[in-house]
Order: sequence, then C-alpha cells, then structure tokens
Amino acid sequence: MINLSPDKEAVLKQAYRLLKPGGEMYFSDVYADRRVPQELVNDPVLYGECLSGALYWNDFQNLAKQCGFADPRLVEDRPLGIDNAEVEKRIGHIGFYSATYRLFKIEGLEPACEDYGQAVIYKGTIADQEQNYLLDKHHLIAAGKVFPVCGNTYRMLNESRLQQHFEFIGTWDNHYGIFEGCGSSLPYDEDTGSAPASGGGCC
Ligand SMILES: C[S@@+](CC[C@H](N)C(=O)[O-])C[C@H]1O[C@@H](n2cnc3c(N)ncnc32)[C@H](O)[C@@H]1O
Repeated sequence: MINLSPDKEAVLKQAYRLLKPGGEMYFSDVYADRRVPQELVNDPVLYGECLSGALYWNDFQNLAKQCGFADPRLVEDRPLGIDNAEVEKRIGHIGFYSATYRLFKIEGLEPACEDYGQAVIYKGTIADQEQNYLLDKHHLIAAGKVFPVCGNTYRMLNESRLQQHFEFIGTWDNHYGIFEGCGSSLPYDEDTGSAPASGGGCC
C-alpha cells in the first residue's frame, strides 16, 4: 500500500500520528534491493505492477525511523519473481521482495539493541501461536522458556497489546553493552593480531 503512494513519508508520518502509544502498524509491501531509477518510477505500467514505486529496503528503514518508528522489525520476506517478459526486460535487473514489517509506536526506543540483562517468558496464550510466538525474524519465542531480549524488544512486548501474554524478568539498572544476536555487534577486534582490511573496505 505504501509502495503505490507518491508521498511515502506522509503515509508513515500519519500512521505514527494515528497510532496510540504501544500501537503498531503490521503490513506487507514490495521493496527493492536498490533505488529504482526515476524513469522507471514514471512508467505507469511498472508502477501499476507494484514494482517501480517500491522503496529501496534501506531507504524504507531510514524513512520509518525518521517518522518515529525507531526500530522497524522485519517479520518475513521472500523474493518476488517477474512473470511478464516485457516487464522483466525493463526492470528485471532490480531485485524485488515481498516483506512484512511491524512498526511499533513506542517513544524513546534506542537506535540499537542494547543489553540490560532482561528476559521474557511467553505464556503461550496467543491464539494459533500456543507453542511459539513470532515477534520478528530474529525472535521466535518458545512458550514457557526464559528468552533473553534487548531493551527495545522488552519494551515492544511490555508496552503493547502483547504485555498480557508475557512474564518479564530483569530491570534497567545495569547495561551490558550491545545485545548480541539482534544484528549489530561490538565493532572492535577481540584479538590484538588482526590486520586492517585491504580489499575494498566498507564504512
Ligand atoms: C492493489 S494494492 C492493494 C492495497 C491493499 N492491500 C488493499 O487490499 O486495499 C496493491 C498493494 O499491494 C502490494 N503488493 C502487491 N504484491 C505484493 C506482495 N507479493 N507482497 C506484499 N505486498 C504486495 C503492492 O505493493 C501495493 O502496495
């Protein structure tokens, strides 16, 4: 739905304004593996195919953060094939994906997943997810098991409609650094021996 909207920032900003604190927008759309060139965006056929209006996935994540959704969570995704030869010829060099995100409206979520030694226990009380609860691609939470979480995940579960389905362990008293397993990690080399990257480093 956002992909067909010419002003995607306005859609995300209005969604954030409309949501109550702890509310979330859970939606699927089409994303691209790079920025789609304007001449393809202006092509009504490619736009109508829900392709050329697609946001580059990283631009979407940054835009969501700019609009208040500080920690967009990817739930699931799959590559999209293009079964129209003419369309394939014109836009087939770009990778398209169907992806489902959940955007929580929670003030003050941190830009990264920080470890405060917290955990949750899922009660198994959500319909059709009695054994495991899928929060997102990084969090399949088994019922009855202590599940360590970062501060942001702790708040997403504790300050939303999901609260009643979880027990919460831990406080905010101690910080233990970056939360391993949420995608980001300590950038420094543990061992003193490693040489700087020589082959086309990235930032
Ligand atoms: C015709 S609109 C439907 C909008 C809304 N879902 C509805 O039912 O009113 C098509 C929207 O669905 C999205 N869409 C099409 N195929 C999709 C897919 N495989 N996965 C996720 N979103 C998809 C498009 O990006 C576009 O935003």
